[in-house]
Amino acid sequence: MVLPAVLGALALSALAYAAPFESGVQPHTHNFRATTVAASKNATTKPQPGAKPAPFCYPALGFVPPFELPEDNTDWWCDPATEYAFVGFSYEVTACQSRAQLHKEFADIRYHFRSRYVRLYGACDQDGFYDDIADAAWANGLGVHALVWFGFNGDDVWISRRDTLFAALHANPLAKFVTRVVQFGSEPLYDNVLPHDQLAEQVVLAKQNLSSLNIPVTVSELAYGYQERGGAQDVLDAIDSINIHMLPFFSQNASTSDQAWPLVLNDLDWFIAHGNGKKMYFDENGWPSVTSPSVQPNSPDAVADIPNEHGYYVLLDQHCEDLKAVVGGGIGWFAHIYSDNQEPGYGIYNSSGHMKFPFAPRTFC
Ligand SMILES: *[C@@H]1O[C@H](CO)[C@@H](O)[C@H](O)[C@H]1NC(C)=O
Ligand SMILES: *[C@@H]1O[C@H](CO)[C@@H](O)[C@H](O)[C@H]1NC(C)=O
Ligand SMILES: *[C@@H]1O[C@H](CO)[C@@H](O)[C@H](O)[C@H]1NC(C)=O
Ligand SMILES: *[C@@H]1O[C@H](CO)[C@@H](O)[C@H](O)[C@H]1NC(C)=O
Repeated sequence: MVLPAVLGALALSALAYAAPFESGVQPHTHNFRATTVAASKNATTKPQPGAKPAPFCYPALGFVPPFELPEDNTDWWCDPATEYAFVGFSYEVTACQSRAQLHKEFADIRYHFRSRYVRLYGACDQDGFYDDIADAAWANGLGVHALVWFGFNGDDVWISRRDTLFAALHANPLAKFVTRVVQFGSEPLYDNVLPHDQLAEQVVLAKQNLSSLNIPVTVSELAYGYQERGGAQDVLDAIDSINIHMLPFFSQNASTSDQAWPLVLNDLDWFIAHGNGKKMYFDENGWPSVTSPSVQPNSPDAVADIPNEHGYYVLLDQHCEDLKAVVGGGIGWFAHIYSDNQEPGYGIYNSSGHMKFPFAPRTFC
């Protein structure tokens, strides 16, 4: 039997897992068979009550893969109700990073920072790019919050991006094992790309399209984006998880990041009140170290510098138990963003590749 190239890569990646990157993980011999990769046609998008415990669920830290890749992903993922604290980075792909760079940086994201996920941001419209993302994520044990990028121009380019991404998710047999959720973003309500009822309808259609792959769908959005559209309860009802933009620097009450907890709670409480108990992530979440034309505060007291960028993540760590206690199994949070090359001032790395501050956030508490 001739294996598609991607399955060859899968077999090689499986060997990479045998390396004990993470403490406590014993080397294993794996026998992922290509014949087991056939998609289940009738999986549901509901969280699976039969989810395996860590480290036997993907992408648990220290993930111990099964001897064979299962037929579908119904027992594959860690239960979202067990995923909280720091989960990974936003990672902007507008640079169309090479496969080699994706592998290198995803390895850093996983093994240096103990991430479980990358959340894609921006768009690369290059043919086959999502296959490279899936390959690099798989090789490094990461789940992906994939993205249909709406951009900032209010145009229809998101439609062709959606079609390209969905085609890749259906065609690449690895995709459903690394793609945790598809986001519509960034901030389609805040940017008013679509009226909220049409956005809700698009979410429903996307869920139908991806149901055979058991890939859920969400919208990546600010509390204010919902609030200024009358609450957009239809969107909140349609999405599978709530992927929140938590950017307290822009609050009219912002000062220093160590004072930001009431601002975080203000937005979080709104989602708790309207989110019907769904799993929640802070998926675009951070504090800038510099301002720029597109990063301007709404409070005269807001401070943008490296200590305050750092301080925001310290604050989240200090409130680890509070965030863990939130309905839906606790808040899983992403750091926005991996590098200043991806969005000026928000990077954990500066534009010459040096860490701007020590960063080793808690992954449990
Ligand atoms: C799919 O549906 C068929 C018929 O209802 C059932 O026999 C089969 O077990 C289902 N497969 C999965 C993976 O749920
Ligand atoms: C899913 O969407 C893609 C891209 O738009 C399309 O080609 C495919 O036919 C759709 N599949 C289903 C099952 O809806
Ligand atoms: C901002 O400050 C005003 C005035 O002190 C207060 O009424 C309001 O509740 C604050 N908002 C938040 C989100 O903290
Ligand atoms: C990045 O950080 C290093 C080490 O602190 C520093 O020497 C360098 O000037 C920084 N680069 C930029 C562009 O800020």
